[in-house]
Formats: sequence, structure tokens, C-alpha cells
Amino acid sequence: MRRSCNREIVVVLGVALVCCFWSWLPVLEVEATQVTYDGRAIIIDGIRRVLFSGAIHYPRSTPEMWPDLIQKAKDGGIDVIETYVFWDLHEIRRRQYDFSGGKGFIKFLKTVQNAGLYAFLRIGPYVCAEWNYGGFPVWLHNLPGIQLRTNNQVYKEEMQNFTTLIVDMCKRENLFAPQGGPIILAQIENEYGNIMGPYREAGKEYIKWCAKMATAQNIGVPWIMCKQSDAPYPMINTCNGFYCDGFKPNNPNSPIMWTESWIGWFKTWGGADPHRATEDVAFSIARFFQFGGVFHNYYMYHGGTNFGRTPGGYITTSYDYDALLDEYGNLNQPKWGHLTQLHAVIKSAQSVLTYGTYSTKLLGAGLELTTYVNNGTGESICFLSNANTVNDTNIVLQSNGNDYFVPAWSATILANCSKEVYNTAKVNTQTSLMTKKPATTDQSEHNHQLKWVWKPEPVRDVLKGWGPLKVKKLLEQKSTTIDVSDYLWYMTSVLVAKKDAKKAILRVNTTGHVLHAFVNRRLVGSQWGQGGNYGFVFERPIMLKPGQNQITLLSATVGLQNYGPFFDLTPTGIAGGPVQLVLSGNVTKDLSSNQWYYKIGLNGELMQFYKDIKIHHHKYWRSKKLPINRPMTWYKTTFKTPLGTDAVVVDMVGMGKGHAWVNGESIGRFWPAFLADKKAGCNDTCDYRGTYDPTKCLTNCGNPSQRWYHIPRSFLMKNRSNTLILFEEIGGNPSQVSFQTVTVGTACGNAYEGNTLQLSCQGGRKFTAIQFASFGDPQGSCGMFRKGTCESANTLNVVRKACLGQERCKITSSEATFGSSKCNGNITRRLAVQAIC
Ligand SMILES: *[C@@H]1O[C@H](CO)[C@@H](O)[C@H](O)[C@H]1NC(C)=O
Ligand SMILES: *[C@@H]1O[C@H](CO)[C@@H](O)[C@H](O)[C@H]1NC(C)=O
Ligand SMILES: *[C@@H]1O[C@H](CO)[C@@H](O)[C@H](O)[C@H]1NC(C)=O
Ligand SMILES: *[C@@H]1O[C@H](CO)[C@@H](O)[C@H](O)[C@H]1NC(C)=O
Ligand SMILES: *[C@@H]1O[C@H](CO)[C@@H](O)[C@H](O)[C@H]1NC(C)=O
Ligand SMILES: *[C@@H]1O[C@H](CO)[C@@H](O)[C@H](O)[C@H]1NC(C)=O
Ligand SMILES: *[C@@H]1O[C@H](CO)[C@@H](O)[C@H](O)[C@H]1NC(C)=O
Ligand SMILES: *[C@@H]1O[C@H](CO)[C@@H](O)[C@H](O)[C@H]1NC(C)=O
Ligand SMILES: *[C@@H]1O[C@H](CO)[C@@H](O)[C@H](O)[C@H]1NC(C)=O
Repeated sequence: MRRSCNREIVVVLGVALVCCFWSWLPVLEVEATQVTYDGRAIIIDGIRRVLFSGAIHYPRSTPEMWPDLIQKAKDGGIDVIETYVFWDLHEIRRRQYDFSGGKGFIKFLKTVQNAGLYAFLRIGPYVCAEWNYGGFPVWLHNLPGIQLRTNNQVYKEEMQNFTTLIVDMCKRENLFAPQGGPIILAQIENEYGNIMGPYREAGKEYIKWCAKMATAQNIGVPWIMCKQSDAPYPMINTCNGFYCDGFKPNNPNSPIMWTESWIGWFKTWGGADPHRATEDVAFSIARFFQFGGVFHNYYMYHGGTNFGRTPGGYITTSYDYDALLDEYGNLNQPKWGHLTQLHAVIKSAQSVLTYGTYSTKLLGAGLELTTYVNNGTGESICFLSNANTVNDTNIVLQSNGNDYFVPAWSATILANCSKEVYNTAKVNTQTSLMTKKPATTDQSEHNHQLKWVWKPEPVRDVLKGWGPLKVKKLLEQKSTTIDVSDYLWYMTSVLVAKKDAKKAILRVNTTGHVLHAFVNRRLVGSQWGQGGNYGFVFERPIMLKPGQNQITLLSATVGLQNYGPFFDLTPTGIAGGPVQLVLSGNVTKDLSSNQWYYKIGLNGELMQFYKDIKIHHHKYWRSKKLPINRPMTWYKTTFKTPLGTDAVVVDMVGMGKGHAWVNGESIGRFWPAFLADKKAGCNDTCDYRGTYDPTKCLTNCGNPSQRWYHIPRSFLMKNRSNTLILFEEIGGNPSQVSFQTVTVGTACGNAYEGNTLQLSCQGGRKFTAIQFASFGDPQGSCGMFRKGTCESANTLNVVRKACLGQERCKITSSEATFGSSKCNGNITRRLAVQAIC
């Protein structure tokens, strides 16, 4: 943000002269920023910009984490921080709002402003975002006459009401650029274009209405609509995807913008860990700028954590996304470093990329050379990309006679169309392998000494069939609970004749996601959706007794659907059933229209067991006979805050499924018993070449899809001990649960001759061992380096001297440093190091 003083202000405000000298005082920052655009650039205060933006969703971290995350983005060459606004967090019940604490999006925007960055506000208010119900408050669903995301009056009034509220809040705080604030862009709706077909004409009308409603908000900065090829001008339609190099907006006067550059992918329960290679991400971004792109937003810069019940359908608590900052806010290396270098190279060519002409030549075999020239200044930049998935190329450019080596699926950037300053496949930055270490505390207590107490979830009432709501049908879950809880009890009783009082089968057809069935107060089985099918038919043999038999079904959702046409109508729970008994002789008795009783939520939730309020404290928690593999059980332990500043996680190995709280703050759902599919297609090698899709380069098959759960340090007490409370739904064993800290374990570096290798540990840790160091032609990559055909004999000693006992070290990659490598003259020499922190 510009911080210079505006002449006009000096004249108008007598005292404002001070602001020329003290302009860093945010309170005095009243200067207007003008944001416009044309077909080649977003123009800020008359300067044509290339902009790097990064998504950081404020509720996926804590206010205490925001300044550090935003500063790391700034250090990484980011100009703009993007966030959605999450309607369901803020309008809890209709016209009842909450903007406190971690929901303080205004405070978040001010943190962005104080860091001197711009903001991009994606109001939606439908946001998708792998967020519960796509960000819609579930009460919307129950408004009479409503149809979401279409030309429906009830819906449009709610959408306009909330959008206006958010815009007005920002205006009141002077957050829009023309008011001197950080917001330079805003978004209405979200990825409607790709699902609008089924909404037919009403969908088209709705988009026109969205554009008009947004424009009328009069915010003074451009609005965008992503993936909306019929976006009415002046709405800018923009691209979302893994690659956007072919994208052209629907109006020649709109700049080429990439609102979601998918740096990785999200994870689902039962899914493996997604990974998108740095080289491929860099290639996609370089190609975007090669073909006229000027605005690029990382989705995500920091993915973070889905605390509470915020994730969408079957999405894990971790939303790491393989983003540039990991879930805990650590640099994800080499991604962060390699892309930071790319930002600098692209931004150094800002004026030539946003003025004048460019042209592309096809050089055959997937090779494309794009030349940007500013005829006025003579400045130029070239992109030479090789989209071939297997063949590397050496090419001599006619224009300058130079020879360039362009690996397959890579792009080279040539400063002045001559000097190679960057290649997307040549990574020259630290690779960090993160590790989790047992947490140390001031009394060096060991984790395995955790003392657990427990209490059962009170279920007497529901097992007897008592519930406050009584209906003669099987209700849809979210319309009934309005999603105040994951849980809904469905209860009925059946009169069984003596002749039928024997073995039978209970059959429940549910739309998901989880079902526990109790017959005559005994749990007869549990089941959940798998492999992307969240509905299933549950069948278990049961024993019926003569007379009244009590059937109690507990249905649990694991986040509500967030994407697709009419996703909001996706049913949840035992909606309509049928629920049947198959009696002897294969006679089916349908219970769907029985008298059903309902109870929303767990008694433990209603009584707030997770808060560890004193009245529950000594009276009800039991210390004897700690149960193992007992469903519907609450566990509690206390622990000391781990020393240091590294991120804290709780290892939930051994637990089943449930929800966890630290000092009353939710750290999210846990489900370590749900293993990532062994056959998901994990592979030790990850070839970055070729088009990425989320099934590529997976890891962690056969292991818990999420084992570690983030505890933000701001949830922890500095002096007193902390409380961890678990609700275990399906049965688990807390004896192996432990606290750990996350830090750099192994740091690897790679520097071609003439470059400098820089390595660093984290959190005050020092290098304790050098596992590998070779200057010559070493082979392999971090974790599996090996010596090549030649090397300088002294390399390991030199590296040890420079790095051991240090938090960071710096070494020039040259024969002057290590002595002769005895490599053939035609071998490209490099230094490779692997060090332990
Ligand atoms: C939102 O609706 C309420 C009535 O439900 C109304 O009082 C309020 O003014 C509306 N807000 C806006 C910004 O339209
Ligand atoms: C720049 O120069 C090229 C080649 O000389 C020419 O084709 C192009 O029209 C010029 N562009 C402008 C904006 O003058
Ligand atoms: C790579 O090069 C080889 C040898 O020139 C050729 O046979 C092959 O078709 C090329 N592959 C691709 C994908 O272009
Ligand atoms: C590009 O050319 C300009 C002047 O024409 C020069 O100042 C600059 O150093 C050159 N950049 C590189 C990377 O060679
Ligand atoms: C289960 O319910 C779904 C609708 O929710 C229905 O399509 C399906 O046919 C039912 N299956 C059985 C076996 O009743
Ligand atoms: C029970 O009846 C169903 C149809 O109602 C039939 O599909 C099934 O095969 C029968 N099962 C047995 C064991 O007879
Ligand atoms: C793993 O990846 C390598 C290289 O891409 C490939 O050749 C191999 O078939 C893959 N293995 C499996 C089990 O998919
Ligand atoms: C924490 O405890 C130490 C001594 O145990 C005390 O000196 C310090 O003031 C306490 N800090 C807080 C914030 O209570
Ligand atoms: C490098 O040079 C040696 C001889 O100095 C030669 O045998 C070898 O083939 C060359 N390698 C390459 C890849 O050109």
C-alpha cells in the first residue's frame, strides 16, 4: 500500500502534515487508493500491476496466528491477502450475528492492512470452500418458499441482506481502497457458471441480479465472478483451476485473472494425503503469466484447520491443502522458497508484462516462446516453455544465438529475452522434511504418563425412546436439527407377537453419514459411508422379545455437502428410510410410518461436558476402570503446555471417531480409525510431469487419514495445566494419545555451482548431524541422495564446519570452497546437502 502523503490531505487537515513523517501510523492513513482495470492489467493509483495474492481464511487459524501468517505471505512476495466471508459463522440465527474473536473478519482485514498488503474480499456469500453447507447457514434451508442460489425472492432477500451488512461493516471501518483501506477487489457468488445448467433460465436471471445487486453496493473497487463466462460487464469473470494458461475473460476489457490457483488439494476421511509438486505448480504459474495473466491468487496460501464443525461433507479437520504454509503456519519447503523466487522474477517485469505487445512462437515438440516488448523503453522478457511431458530440450534461440536447456514440463524465464533467471523445474531452495517430536514440558513429564478420567454419555433416556419431538415419519436430519449438532436420535417401539419373538434382521436405509443402532438398549451395530458413498443400507441380525421392543437409531453427519447443483437439497440422516424388520419367513415389517420420537444432539453436548465446568468436575468423572473400545464415552486428561514456539499437535492414534476440545475450545472432529484406502494409488515416486489431478502423487495410503490434530498455542495456558476432553463415539483407546511439536527434522539443500546454499532449522533448533554432502554430480533427492561419479573429497568436512551447532548456515557452491571435484569438464556441478535439525 502506498504510504506517501497526499497533498490534498495536507491542505484539508491542518495537522495532517504530520502524516508525511508518521505515515506508518494506521490511524492517519486516510489516503484514497484508486483501483481500475483494462484488458491488460489491474491499475492501482495509475500503476499497472501484476499482483500475487494468497488465500488465508480467517476462521482456519486463530487471531494470534494471523499476523505471522500474513507476514510470511508478505515475505514470500505476496501483495494481496484473499479471504471468503463465512455467512454461517456470522449469522448464527436469522438476524443474530457474531463477529467476536476468531470470527472477527474486520480485525483480520485490519491485520492485512497493518502489514501493508491489499485485501481481496470474496463475500460469496455462497463460498463452497470445503466448508459446511458451502457457508450457508442451515436455517436458510427451512425458510418457507426458499430456493438457494437461483432467481428466488426469499433467497435473494437473504443474500442481499447479508451482503449489504458485510459491505456496510467494511465501509464503516473505511476498508475499501477508495476510503484508504486495503480492499482492492470483491467477489459476488462463487463458481456458479459450472453448475448453473440445471437451474436453466432462472440461473441466468439470478446471475444478472447478482451483478446488479453487487454493483449497487457502490464499493468503488472492481467486482469479480469466478468461472462465470456470462458475467455481465463490468463484473470480471475469472479462472479457477490447476492450470489457467488458456483462459480468456469474456470481455476484452477485463484483465486475465486467476482467482483460485489450486496449489494442492483437500483431504477427505478415508482419503490419502494429496500432494502437488512444486515444479508443476511453478510451471502452471509461469505459463499463466506467459500468456497474459496479471493477477494470480493461491488457493490456498495457508489452508489451516477446520475447527469445530466447520468442514464440508466428509472433509477432514486438517485443511493443510499442501499450501505454501503448512497447516500450522510453517514454511512448506521447497514450495514456499521456489515460488517466492518466481514472484520476484515476474514482478521485476511488471511494466513490460502489463503494457505493449506480446507474441508467441511455436518452436515444435511442445516448445513455446513468448516475447514481451515495451517498444517505448526497449524492456523485454521472454518465456520459453516446454509442455512436453517426457522430452527435455536443448534449444538455440535464433534471436540471440544462446543455447537453453529446458526440461520437460518446465518454463524458463529470460530477463531481457536473453539471460535465464528462472526455470520452474530447477529448484534452488531448501527442502524441509517436517517431523513431530514428543513435547517437552518444564517438568519434562512424559506423555505416556497422561492420567485419564472418563464418563459415559448419558443415554438412558434415548435408549428408552424418550424424545421431545414426535412424528409418524422418518425425518430428514438437517431440516430437523438445523445442524446445531452432528447427532439426531430416531426412536420407535414395536409390539412383537410371541411367534415373531426370535431372530430377525434390522434394516435401515440411510442417506448417511454414520449410523449406530440400538435394540432393547443394546448396541447392535454401527456403520458409515465409504468411498464417496455416504448413504448405505444397514443390516444386522437382532433378537426380538415378545411385547414392546425399543429401537433407537443414532444418525450422525460428518459435515454437510458443499458443492454441486442443488447441493443444499442433498438429504442427510434416515430421511424417509425405510426402516424395516425382516422377520422369520422373510416377512418384512416396515416401521417407516411408526410413531417416531426424536432428540437432537447428545446429552453431553447439552450439558457441555466439553467445557469441564466445575460442577461436572469431581462428581461425575471417574478415574477407575478406564474403558477401552467403549462407544459413547467422554475422556478427560490434563497436560502441561509444551515448551518452545513450535506448533503443538495431539497424536490421536488408538482413538476411534469423535470430537476433541482443549480448554473448552474445539480442535475439531477426529477419526483416526478411518484409514486411507490402501488402493488409493500411493506411490513412492512422484513424477511432476504431465497434467496434475488429485489422484496423482498421493501418500499415506493404509494409514489413518488424519492422525495428528492441531492445538493452536493460543488455546493453551501459559502457567496452569490444560484440559483435553474427547467425545469418543465408536470406541477407542486413549492410552497412546500424546502431545507432540512439529518442526523441521531434515533440511536438504541443492545449489548449482556459483550459487549459495542456505539451510535453516526452526524454533531455535541447531544442526546436529550432516547426513550427506557432496559437491560434484550427486544423484537422487532429499531423503535419498547418493554420490555420483565425482566429488570434492573435502565437502563433508566443510559443510560440517559451517553448519553443525548452528541454527542456519550458508555455503558457496564452488571448487574454491571444497577443492577440486575432479569432474569432467562437461558435467554440471552442484552441491547437495542433507542435514538433521
Ligand atoms: C436485513 O433484514 C432486516 C429485517 O429482517 C432489516 O431490519 C435490515 O435492515 C436488513 N438489512 C439490510 C442491510 O438490508
Ligand atoms: C512494437 O513493435 C512491434 C515490432 O516492431 C510492432 O509490431 C508493434 O506494433 C509495436 N507495438 C506498439 C504498441 O507500438
Ligand atoms: C520424445 O522424443 C522421442 C524421440 O525423439 C519421440 O519418439 C517421442 O515421441 C517424444 N515424446 C513425446 C511425448 O513427444
Ligand atoms: C536487462 O537490460 C537492462 C538494460 O537494458 C539492464 O539494466 C539489466 O541489467 C538487464 N538484466 C539482466 C538480468 O541482464
Ligand atoms: C434408500 O433410499 C434411497 C433414497 O434416499 C432410495 O433411492 C433407495 O432406493 C432406497 N434403498 C432401499 C433399499 O430402500
Ligand atoms: C426375501 O424377500 C425378498 C423380496 O422381498 C427377496 O428378494 C429375497 O430373496 C428373499 N430372501 C430369502 C432368503 O428368501
Ligand atoms: C509409481 O510411479 C512410477 C513412475 O511414475 C510408475 O512407473 C509406477 O508404475 C508407479 N507404481 C504404481 C504402483 O502405481
Ligand atoms: C507464571 O508463573 C510464574 C512462576 O511460576 C510467575 O512468575 C508468572 O508471573 C506467571 N505468569 C502469569 C502470566 O501468570
Ligand atoms: C563428457 O566428456 C567425456 C570426455 O571428456 C565424454 O566421454 C563424455 O561422453 C561426455 N559426456 C557428455 C554427456 O557429453
